[in-house]
Amino acid sequence: MQVYFVCFVPFVVTIFSSLRESTVANPFNWLNDELASLETRSLVRGRREVQSLAGGCCQIDGRKLWNFAGNDYLGFVRDPVVIAAAQDALNEGVGAGASALVTGRTHWHAELEQRLAEFKGTEAAILFPTGFAANFGTIVSLVGSEDIVFCDRLNHASLIDGARHSKARFRVYPHCNMNALRTELEKSAEFRRRLIVTDSLFSMDGDVAPLAELTSLAEQFNSMLLVDEAHATGIFGDRGTGLLEAQNVKSGNVVAVGTLSKAIGAQGGFVAGSQSFCDWLWNTARTSMFSTALAPPICAAAQASLKLIETEPHRREWLRSASLRVVEALRSQEWEIPDGVDGPIIPVLTGTPENTIKLSKQLQQQGLLVAAIRPPTVPQGKSRLRISLSHAHGEEGVEALIQAFEKFMSPI
Ligand SMILES: Cc1ncc(COP(=O)(O)O)c(C=O)c1O
Repeated sequence: MQVYFVCFVPFVVTIFSSLRESTVANPFNWLNDELASLETRSLVRGRREVQSLAGGCCQIDGRKLWNFAGNDYLGFVRDPVVIAAAQDALNEGVGAGASALVTGRTHWHAELEQRLAEFKGTEAAILFPTGFAANFGTIVSLVGSEDIVFCDRLNHASLIDGARHSKARFRVYPHCNMNALRTELEKSAEFRRRLIVTDSLFSMDGDVAPLAELTSLAEQFNSMLLVDEAHATGIFGDRGTGLLEAQNVKSGNVVAVGTLSKAIGAQGGFVAGSQSFCDWLWNTARTSMFSTALAPPICAAAQASLKLIETEPHRREWLRSASLRVVEALRSQEWEIPDGVDGPIIPVLTGTPENTIKLSKQLQQQGLLVAAIRPPTVPQGKSRLRISLSHAHGEEGVEALIQAFEKFMSPI
């Protein structure tokens, strides 16, 4: 009897637990429905392996393509001088091993911060693990529930998310519309602090913020102005420091954010401003305080890139003139390129996500990788091919791009 009991109990337990498994809902079941819904709207994003190649090219599934989908505007990602600098630093270790606040701040970090401050013409600079973390952490350190943030409608997600997370009142003004911003500022007297945030070169539209007007409004309404120079660093201005330099903006109301991940060809973010501003971020910005510092070889690579920006202005000069040529050529082929495009980011408006993906696939068949940008990255109806030019493409790449648009595809 006892033997029967011992065998019977586990049997019953197994049956009951498998019954339970089949009847208790899996809390992750909704994921498949949501993914299927994205799929039917052509909004699902696949993952692919991309291998970087020399000359502005890459390899996908064993096939060599021109890469017009990255942000390596000056070709520093594979530059031998930049790589050698990273390799040298690698001898001292790979990672920083701790957050900068604890023990992660090495001489590589200190030197790079010093170099970035000189580059941007500010008293000080502070590094962050990414550009996203720089924007997000800075905004949250500057404003809270008694304050208000004014945000351009086309700003990068890191600015929008930082503003939302800060608990400050959040006002979005139409893209580059200074009258609308002024109207909002006029209504903001009751708030403790005001902060205007803007991209300087807009990442999906390739156009430029009116920084002089923004600064003048900031000064008039005693507002702070955060300018995200992510895509402008290395490209604009006589010294290549960005659009604040190009538009000759100097003001105590302005603080600049940048990334090391685009034209600088490495990784990480930085903020450049007064010493007290950087001290405040050092003490309060949680995205730096609670995150491991940048890997030292990355800091060394970024320093080498900064030097090249200084000594090789022909790279950015070529890039600007190549961009003008591409815009003119594509417009003459009747592709829709918005007004105001200036610099390496060239959006070609293609309407629906379906059409955008179709065109992107056609380009890929012709040997060109161009990003298909769809909602939620851009508003509904504004899907686009986002061409990004690099110095590494050279004349041959530019010619291949223009020809592919002319010969193999037609505007909607
Ligand atoms: C305008 C802008 N700001 C910030 C970021 C974030 O920079 P990072 O890639 O270094 O995190 C990006 C990235 O695409 C960007 O486009």
